[in-house]
Amino acid sequence: MTGTRPVWDRVFADTPRRPYIPAVLWGDDDKQIDRDKDPDAWEDAVAADVPLVTQMDDGTDSGDLIPTSSASMPSLVRHMLELLDLRTDHHILELGTGTGWSTALLATALTGGRVTSIEVDPLVAIQAQESLRGRDLAPTLIVGDGLQGFEEDAPYHRLIATMAVQRVPYEWVEQVKPGGVIVTPWGTPYNNSGLLRLVVNEDGTASGRFVGNVAFMWARSQRRRFDTRRFVGDVIPDPKTHRIRHTTADPRPLREEHADFAIGLRLPEVEHRRFFGRGDRAEEFTAWYADGASWASIDYKPDADSYEVNESGSRDLWAEIEAAYAAWRAQGEPPREQHGVTVTRDGQWTWLDGPNGRVDVGPTSGNREVRD
Ligand SMILES: C[S@@+](CC[C@H](N)C(=O)[O-])C[C@H]1O[C@@H](n2cnc3c(N)ncnc32)[C@H](O)[C@@H]1O
Repeated sequence: MTGTRPVWDRVFADTPRRPYIPAVLWGDDDKQIDRDKDPDAWEDAVAADVPLVTQMDDGTDSGDLIPTSSASMPSLVRHMLELLDLRTDHHILELGTGTGWSTALLATALTGGRVTSIEVDPLVAIQAQESLRGRDLAPTLIVGDGLQGFEEDAPYHRLIATMAVQRVPYEWVEQVKPGGVIVTPWGTPYNNSGLLRLVVNEDGTASGRFVGNVAFMWARSQRRRFDTRRFVGDVIPDPKTHRIRHTTADPRPLREEHADFAIGLRLPEVEHRRFFGRGDRAEEFTAWYADGASWASIDYKPDADSYEVNESGSRDLWAEIEAAYAAWRAQGEPPREQHGVTVTRDGQWTWLDGPNGRVDVGPTSGNREVRD
């Protein structure tokens, strides 16, 4: 290895984000910002250290307003690039080209190396290609499913994904050299907030810890079963099994960042959403849990002595949530970063403190697809 470490200050100074941002984007509160109608708002958004949504609903007009492509937050882009421990002569595989900005940063940094970048959405990929055209950069751009990696260009020294996965595909491990690094957002259907850094081992496995808290959109084929806006409508009570009870267990501590992540690791099949009240009911919320066959919900109201739990289906999901939370507390409330993932040819498992401390007790550690 002859390459030196990239000087990220210089790479970022040489590669501003602005030329990669389309004229229409979505800022906070799903508000559309059109450069032609409000150039000042557009410039402010582009200059700020915030993520910019550049496509909603896979480019359809479904109106669900689910972000499906974006330019990530600049400080986070930098953090993820630094986690790769790149050398200037490395060959890297990037998954989720998006606007092409991070591809340009990589291509600028790798003066003696190469970038291969894959984008699943053909229209997004064309826009990135247009933005990268005419610059003195030569990444290889591929339209396809990044979950397969890109064997034709393998092996790679590094792999970075900018979409979240529930399961790390073994193809990624196979296509990265031993000693190489994989950085990817990672989540469960319950909680999507892990930033995972894996190192590929000589024995063909990869292992590593969570190194931070991020919120990336899901890889298209690993999206959750229920999308946010239809979640409640999709979990229709089964009159034969619907039951209501009350609990004195306050559901608020389950919302804490590390508890939320840890429960998701311990119940990897269960999806979860919270809906808050508005105005003077803003402290109220209903938390929903569902596995596709069973569901549970709990209603929180301030000053209540007990909280209503609704359940349907064969699983007592609320009891399972309480048990997972209790198990995590009994382990000393370990934070996200004390957990990690090991990936083998047969699937992945999650662990606490090291690969022998397996925590995902469910049947889900294989590479089963949830939904396309
Ligand atoms: C957060 S955005 C990318 C940000 C981008 N790196 C940038 O700096 O602008 C995630 C991208 O991943 C893409 N994506 C989703 N699933 C994918 C998959 N299976 N393979 C490749 N790209 C995928 C989305 O279409 C989206 O453009």
